[in-house]
Amino acid sequence: MYGTIATMAFVGVEARPVDVQVRITPGAQAFMIVGLPDKAVAESRERIRNALHAVGLGLPYKHVTINLAPADLPKEGSHFDLPIALALMVAMEAIAPDAIERYAAIGELALDGAIRPVPGALPAAIGANAIDKGLICPEACGPEAAWAGDDADILAAPHLLSLVNHFKGLQALSRPKPALTRNESGTVHPDLRDVRGQESAKRALEVAAAGGHNLLMVGPAGSGKSMLAQRLSSILPPLASEEMLEVSMVHSLAGELMGGKLCTERPFRAPHHSASMAALVGGGTRPRPGEASLAHLGVLFLDELPEFQPSVLDALRQPLETGELIIARANHRVAYPARLQLVAAMNPCRCGGGPGQTCKRGPRCAADYQARISGPLLDRIDLQIEVPAVSAADLVLPPPKEGSAEVRARVTAARERQRARFVEHSAASLRTNAQCSGTLLEKIAQPDDAGLALIRSAADTLKLSARGYHRTLRVARTLADLDAAETVGRIHVAEALSYRGETLRQERVQ
Ligand SMILES: Nc1ncnc2c1ncn2[C@@H]1O[C@H](COP(=O)(O)OP(=O)(O)O)[C@@H](O)[C@H]1O
Ligand SMILES: [Mg+2]
Ligand SMILES: [Zn+2]
Repeated sequence: MYGTIATMAFVGVEARPVDVQVRITPGAQAFMIVGLPDKAVAESRERIRNALHAVGLGLPYKHVTINLAPADLPKEGSHFDLPIALALMVAMEAIAPDAIERYAAIGELALDGAIRPVPGALPAAIGANAIDKGLICPEACGPEAAWAGDDADILAAPHLLSLVNHFKGLQALSRPKPALTRNESGTVHPDLRDVRGQESAKRALEVAAAGGHNLLMVGPAGSGKSMLAQRLSSILPPLASEEMLEVSMVHSLAGELMGGKLCTERPFRAPHHSASMAALVGGGTRPRPGEASLAHLGVLFLDELPEFQPSVLDALRQPLETGELIIARANHRVAYPARLQLVAAMNPCRCGGGPGQTCKRGPRCAADYQARISGPLLDRIDLQIEVPAVSAADLVLPPPKEGSAEVRARVTAARERQRARFVEHSAASLRTNAQCSGTLLEKIAQPDDAGLALIRSAADTLKLSARGYHRTLRVARTLADLDAAETVGRIHVAEALSYRGETLRQERVQ
């Protein structure tokens, strides 16, 4: 008595095929799962026993062995319940083997036989499609799995009984339809037009959007830093279609693809500073992408930056450098994509430093607060600006003529120039200037003579480090792209040098 079905194990965002093999042999009653299952998989025994009972099947008084192959691939999560139950039902001759051979299955079972939603239906459906199989999944995951393609055969069932009836031809399950995309369901972003004054901060936001640069804003409470950051999404270009799938896979694995809607917009994640390490970078008892991965191809906004745990900020250096987050598990490592744009905001000192407010605790207060941000993290932030308090005169100004739509058009054009240039230099994997470094950067951002003269003298007078030099080139390249200029000029170098965050640097030198 033997039954088998395919399922999937997740390795990062990739779904790898796994065979569930069930053999029932005479002998003392037992239920053994072998093949590197984690705790959640080992617990499936009780859920399966009860769910089968709910559809009128008792586990046989025999020896049941369940093998998850290949054995060396770690199996984590509760989505193995359904495939194990289906293979078991084949072994018990409750369903015909040919009914399920064209499918892989994922799903968690409730004690009453209901099939509960699990994360990862989108990558699982894509993985199943790659081995020419359809996917049996929980009903709630159907709209998400259906994005795998028109040719993907998806069976989305609410209950074990409805699957049995479907296979017996008693009640057909219809193919789920892909859910609408988020855009079609209408999200409205706050507009940059709402921000009065603050012209140079707005300019820096535009530069950050155009080149994908990380941005740090330092300024007194109430100056509009949070307000500015929340408007970044409104000026970023939309995701390309292959990027939508890339982002949606991560969100699917985190169980955050609400209603199965594909992500069409760049994510904007703003975790609170009290968020745990696991919530921010991923991991914990269940492997799950954290906020940094959920911000993949979008924005991670860290408001009140110095309030975050130093260990969390430290862990962020890896994705900022490599675009990937590696999480150590008990016996393996998982990599999630995390190509994010960091936007951070902070007050100059812990007391806030609001308008007309001088810190009573003196300069130590600011120095201590700012020292919480490590040098290596600051090194990875291309744009560091000061946002001054807004004056009442600014607030009574009429709304600016230019809003997010106009800025977004410039940003999109600047990004297209970058894409084209990277393709031309056989570096098509790069998308923005922020990702560019080393020799390629020196080649594509080589300033003209006047620009070179300026950067040389700045290197002397400002004591520009090698990193500082490259950061200046990167930003200057983006400024030239916003100007539609092929060559980086003196004016671009000069502006790039102004985004070096003097306050933080001085605190550090003293
Ligand atoms: N430049 C501005 N234009 C319009 N309103 C502003 C501006 N700056 C601040 N505000 C108002 O002040 C509030 C607080 O701003 P916020 O972005 O939270 O400041 P910060 O994050 O710098 O402490 C905003 O919700 C907004 O109503
Ligand atoms: Mg704020
Ligand atoms: Zn203070």
